[in-house]
Amino acid sequence: MVEVHKSKMSLNGIQQPPYNRNKSIGRQFLEVAQIIGDVCLLFLYLLYSLGDAIYRYVVPPTPKSVKGEIVLITGAGHGMGKELAFLYASKGATVVGWDVNKKNNEETISEINQRGYPHAYAYYCDVSKRDSVFEVAKKVQQEVGDVTILINNAGIMPTHPILDQTQEEIERTFSINVLAHCWTMQAFLPAMKKNNRGHIVALSSCAGLFGLENLVPYCGSKFAVRGMMEALHEELRLEKLDRIELTTVCPYMVDTGLCKRPRVRFDRFMRLLTPEYAAKAIMKAQQTNMKLVTVPNYMLSLTNYVRLFPLKGAIYVKDFINAGLESDL
Ligand SMILES: NC(=O)c1ccc[n+]([C@@H]2O[C@H](COP(=O)([O-])OP(=O)(O)OC[C@H]3O[C@@H](n4cnc5c(N)ncnc54)[C@H](O)[C@@H]3O)[C@@H](O)[C@H]2O)c1
Repeated sequence: MVEVHKSKMSLNGIQQPPYNRNKSIGRQFLEVAQIIGDVCLLFLYLLYSLGDAIYRYVVPPTPKSVKGEIVLITGAGHGMGKELAFLYASKGATVVGWDVNKKNNEETISEINQRGYPHAYAYYCDVSKRDSVFEVAKKVQQEVGDVTILINNAGIMPTHPILDQTQEEIERTFSINVLAHCWTMQAFLPAMKKNNRGHIVALSSCAGLFGLENLVPYCGSKFAVRGMMEALHEELRLEKLDRIELTTVCPYMVDTGLCKRPRVRFDRFMRLLTPEYAAKAIMKAQQTNMKLVTVPNYMLSLTNYVRLFPLKGAIYVKDFINAGLESDL
């Protein structure tokens, strides 16, 4: 019978799991040797990942072609979604635009057609509604084909203090900015998994990297998008579906009208981005299989470095930069 020693050690009153003391010396030696071997291997992998990142920085990957891909863009009727629709169509992709704003969406698609790209289609879809997503996804599959690039772009941003946010605003923020990503993943991932091929792009935000006043639900929703994409990456990696790529994009403020009252201290260096610039950066990130990017690029490094400081330090930097959004009320 195996003798199990009940540890008396406890951390903050929490009992540690029992330790099996009945292991032979040989077995204990093997276990230690295995751990040492794994640690050495881990260091090698870490060095390799650093080398790989440096190499990719010096020699950026060639953007992959999107010709012939079927790209579905949610929120294609306005802002970055609209610009993305133009860009992908101009590079030979078939574009499927989804939006709740039927008029704007149809305008985007007919403008694409007028520019000489016939393969563009508009569908009305409220991405916050699971049934609607599944119904329209089925239609797209029958009428256009399997979506190979999904761009989860639609989003809203009620901007005021948490106590002034209505229940309806908070629920809509999470339904459109977060839950919609789950519904579209569930609708389009099966075909991607079947073919072990595809790409999902998700619009998070710099507000998904650090918290900002007036944006409590919005920041929560954009942090959630980043977390969901990271978790999905793990699922696909462990299932060895290595040809389904994921890209999470965190833009700084973009001049689409979504940011109603932007506050920028250093407007020479940190002015609002144009939707065209942001869309180009998003497309490049997708074409080069980037996992997580900010637009502009340097924001990610800046955030990572600032996070090395104690929280107080990060707050000093934030106050110094003093960029954000005033309440829209
Ligand atoms: N503009 C910015 O400063 C900024 C910065 C970082 C991240 N983002 C994110 O980028 C994305 C696009 O932002 P934008 O500024 O281009 O937005 P936008 O307001 O210009 O366009 C959003 C589009 O989404 C559509 N939409 C809204 N709810 C929908 C729903 N339920 N179903 C389908 N479509 C719906 C709208 O009709 C609109 O056409 C959003 O997710 C936003 O949170 C924006």
